[in-house]
Parts: sequence; structure tokens; C-alpha cells
Amino acid sequence: MTSQNIYILGIESSCDDTAASVIHNGSILSNVVANQKIHEEYGGVVPELASRAHQQNIVPVVHQALEKAGITKEQLNAIAFTRGPGLMGSLLVGTSFAKSFAYGLNIPLIDVNHMQAHILAHFIDEEGFEKPEFPFLAMTISGGHTQIVKVNNYFNMDVIGETIDDAVGEAYDKSGKILGLGYPAGPEIDKRAQLGNPKAFKFTKPKVDGLNFSFSGLKTAILYFIQRESKKNPDFIKENLNDICASIQYTIIGILIDKLKVATKQTGINQIAIGGGVSANSGIRKALKDGEQKFGWKTYVPKFEFTTDNAAMIAIVGYLKYLEEDFAEQDITASARLKI
Ligand code: KG4
Ligand code: ZN
Repeated sequence: MTSQNIYILGIESSCDDTAASVIHNGSILSNVVANQKIHEEYGGVVPELASRAHQQNIVPVVHQALEKAGITKEQLNAIAFTRGPGLMGSLLVGTSFAKSFAYGLNIPLIDVNHMQAHILAHFIDEEGFEKPEFPFLAMTISGGHTQIVKVNNYFNMDVIGETIDDAVGEAYDKSGKILGLGYPAGPEIDKRAQLGNPKAFKFTKPKVDGLNFSFSGLKTAILYFIQRESKKNPDFIKENLNDICASIQYTIIGILIDKLKVATKQTGINQIAIGGGVSANSGIRKALKDGEQKFGWKTYVPKFEFTTDNAAMIAIVGYLKYLEEDFAEQDITASARLKI
């Protein structure tokens, strides 16, 4: 892209991960994430605890990112940070830190939209990973988001579908809670699903118009089903856990793939890139690969560490915006409901 020597620090603090990353041109030199274990015992993210933990983590995480990259702060060309969407108390920590740091170093400040970053993570230079060509469809699936986006160019994107209630990761986590699994439950449901029969139990898919999603009805259906069966047999969950997980996973993947089929038909675009923590799911990965054979799709799954919340994706957007000299002013504020 350029022969210049550009170093950007990316900072991400939108939810419960404090993350910092240094990118040199398009390549990641460091990608540090401090996960907040504290939320596990509450079965979900507690906003007040998240912002406090960000306060504790941000300085050491940034320090580590610079150290691992082998550069000093004086070598940085700009600071990129997540402006939103996310939890306000969490966003404020990263935003305030980034503003002060950029001001202190007298270098440009770059604001990044977290949802765009999940998508643009595909443009990090990484051996063995191909970059999608414009236009393509991006499906972001995580504990906080579920969207289908038509990506026309780096900064020209149209959201063509999104959830009207829970995110897909929440569907996993809330189902897991009903089954007595730990938080987050997605990875365990996925593991057990691979050992069970996906057609053992049938859950109806929600009917939602167009390309939007709904997952709250599924959670309720699972709750009623488990209550009903457990009344008949108190050991129902224990005796059928793998089959229940496989059936839930089968239903969720069916919902995602059905919408992708409509989206590809509607837009005429057959390139699909996914992002967000749920992209780690074995079932969705397999279904996408199958889609290459069955529907002529070309699919892209980024390296795992770039799919969950991370700062490398913020740094790559910072780099792309730096090349366009698209900088933020010091009076910029965090925006919890920032749209693509
Ligand atoms: O992107 P992420 O780390 O954080 C945000 O929510 O933004 O995604 C976390 C979500 C959780 O809901 C978790 O249960 C889900 O991703 N998840 C999975 C898998 N690994 C993580 N869901 C299904 N299958 C997986 N293998
Ligand atoms: Zn995210």
C-alpha cells in the first residue's frame, strides 16, 4: 500500500476486554488483550466492574503492546481508539486515555467504529489469510452483535440486516445458563454439539422479515422445553446434554445460513467474510465451507485472535484512516450507540 514506515497504536475498550496493539504498515507487531475474569461469576458483563477493570488494565496493556512491538512511544505516528458502539463507562476509559496520549505525544488521534473494525480485521496482512475483494458481505456474530453488512469499500458500508433483540452469542450464553453451563457458554455448547445428534430435538426458527434476526424467542423456547422435559425426567439435561447442545447449534446455524442465502441472492454478492467471537464456532465454519460447494460462495474467516474483541482490528482501521489523513479532534467524545 505504501513504502512509508507507519506505526499506529490501537486501543480497544468497548466491552470487557482491555486491548492494545501496534501495527507497522499493514502488519501486526503486537496484540495484547487483558480479559476480565470477574464477570464469569455474574454470568454476564457487569458494566460498572468493566470500567473499573479497564482503568486498572489500560496502562500496563499499552505498555506491553509497545514493548512487545519493540518500539518506543516516540516512534508512534498516531493513536487509534474505539469510539463506539459499546458500554459508555468502558468506552470512556479508552477514549480518554487515547486523547491524552495523542495530545502528550503531539501526534494525530484517530477514532474507530468497533463494528467497522470487526469487518476490516480481514485487511490485516497475515500469512495464509486472503483478503476479500470489494464488494463483499460481512456477517459479524458475537456476544454483542449480529449484523449482515454490505461492504462497498473500506469506509462505505451498508447494514442490510441485524438482530432486533439478542445477539447470536447471547443466544448461546443464555441457552448455556438454562443448561447450567458456565459463562460464556458458546465454546462448551460447540464442543458438546460435535458429540451429539443435531436432529434429536427440534426448535422452531423465528420468522423475521428480510435480513433481520431474532434470537430471544429461541431462548424462551429452549427454557420451556427444558422445564417441560425436566418435570418428566429430572435427569433430562444430564442424560441428553450433547444432543440438546447439538440441536441448539443446528438451529442457530440454520438461522444464520438461511439469512446469508437471502443476502447473497438479494445483493448478487457471493463473497462472505465473518467476524466476532462466534466465528470460532465449528458448525458455522463448516456450514460456510459447505456453502462454497453448494451455493458457489467464497468465504473468509480471519485468524482467531482477530475475530474476538481485540485492538489489532482497531489498529488496522487506524492505519487505513491515517493513509487518508482522516483524523479526529481533541473534543471528540465516546458514542455508545455509534452506527456503521
Ligand atoms: O467477540 P467476543 O469475544 O465478544 C463480544 O461479545 O463482543 O464474542 C464472545 C461471544 C460469547 O457470546 C461466546 O459465547 C461466543 O462469542 N463464542 C462462541 C464460541 N466461542 C465464543 N459461540 C459459539 N461457538 C463458539 N465456539
Ligand atoms: Zn465486538
